[in-house]
Amino acid sequence: MEPATARPKAPTAAPPTVGFSSLENEVQLDSIPLEGELPGWLEGSLLRTGPSKFEAGEQRFRHWFDGQAMLHRFGLSGGEGSVSYAGRFLETKAYAAASAGRIGYSEFATDPCRGLFKRMMSIFDPGISDNCNVNLTKLGERYIAMTETPIPVQFDGETLATVGVAYDVPGMLTTAHPHLERATGGMLNYAAKLGLRNEYRFFHLAPEPDARPEVVASMPVTHPAYMHSFGLSQRWLILAEFPFVVDPKRILLSGRPFIENFRWEPERGTRFTLFDRQDGTRVGPFTAEPFFCFHHLNAFDVEDGAVVIDMQTYEDASLIDQLYLDELRAPGGPRIPTPRVERITIDPGAPAGSLARRETLLDPGFELGRINYGRCNERPYRYAWGLTPSEPGGWLDTIGRADFEARRTTSWREPGSYPGEPVFVARPGAEGEDDGVLLSVVLDAAAERSFLLVLDASDLSELARAVAPHHIPFGFHGQFAH
Ligand code: CO
Repeated sequence: MEPATARPKAPTAAPPTVGFSSLENEVQLDSIPLEGELPGWLEGSLLRTGPSKFEAGEQRFRHWFDGQAMLHRFGLSGGEGSVSYAGRFLETKAYAAASAGRIGYSEFATDPCRGLFKRMMSIFDPGISDNCNVNLTKLGERYIAMTETPIPVQFDGETLATVGVAYDVPGMLTTAHPHLERATGGMLNYAAKLGLRNEYRFFHLAPEPDARPEVVASMPVTHPAYMHSFGLSQRWLILAEFPFVVDPKRILLSGRPFIENFRWEPERGTRFTLFDRQDGTRVGPFTAEPFFCFHHLNAFDVEDGAVVIDMQTYEDASLIDQLYLDELRAPGGPRIPTPRVERITIDPGAPAGSLARRETLLDPGFELGRINYGRCNERPYRYAWGLTPSEPGGWLDTIGRADFEARRTTSWREPGSYPGEPVFVARPGAEGEDDGVLLSVVLDAAAERSFLLVLDASDLSELARAVAPHHIPFGFHGQFAH
């Protein structure tokens, strides 16, 4: 029985629910209100993609990852002290169908309604979505939006106009987290070929617009794992297979949306395979207890030949279930597992089947973590920036800065505000690894507006904020382009 004095709890800060509601209007504004001062050297654009339309007529997309992609561009001029903003839908075939009032293509966790005949026909034409709402990259002079289907879409970095399919992925599944290949300015990515025989593949794509992907390493697999990113050290391409796996026949025949065909099979453990970047030969697998992760953070080789792999990890893949929109829009706000940052160390000379060493670097850890990529990717590093919850199990509401050398974290938080992925931009001529700014699109939930936050990356002090004319639904990833 409730005590007689029980009162409703004091209202807490507004939950982030509005971050999972559609933004339908496209705008282009030469200037938006700016508080504070941008560093004089900061010139360029923060380009982001993210889900922005969660309905198609009367039909509803089911999962955060299914919303139709809008591109966002914050143009920053430190010299002029101004910020511009533009938002524009990616003009995909999936978006065209959704605009016409129907879900036309298979998304991560939503399928179009299909009768038996259509389902059978879909084996020959699976109607895979081109909804590139996960990440984007600049390859040579081309801007490319990406998702995990094999249909990356090129767009104009200035106008955000859609250009068309960017290249042919050598497989049916891929990641929206390619790595830069420093030597060529090209791109390295992973794909899974599914069919009578399934294969994991790494491919390279040169920066020239007419280049075609070239497979540089591969490995046969029976039940492929769901992998959202991969690791890269100077010597190795790193595949971490979590025990969240699929019998590919199920994707075609089960009648269930894509991700609901995967099964958590903890007895498999997590398996690491290393592919030599010189010749594609592989060592491993090396094993670890079962865990799951979306995002590798960084990897590097150490002097004794070992490879160190830092990842943002979870006990299992249940986070995916908690990102259905019904869960995220629940009264009181979403509850999600809190990630850790873990360091895995592998001796490539050890026999296959050897246990990898696991060490916790941060607990609570980060999600959507970033590093000084241009300087530190594939190399030893000291700092990372990411999102973390202010209470265990809560939504990500805090920007954290980790100093792995001093084993110290610093944070930025404003109650009722929910930051997005913090993107590091180095100061031209910087000497220190953390000499630059962080850019994060933050939702002010009560005001139902988003703002671009500019922090000093070295201490998370606020330099400036620029207020968008509306809320920007929570997105995943973006890049700064000079
Ligand atoms: Co991602």
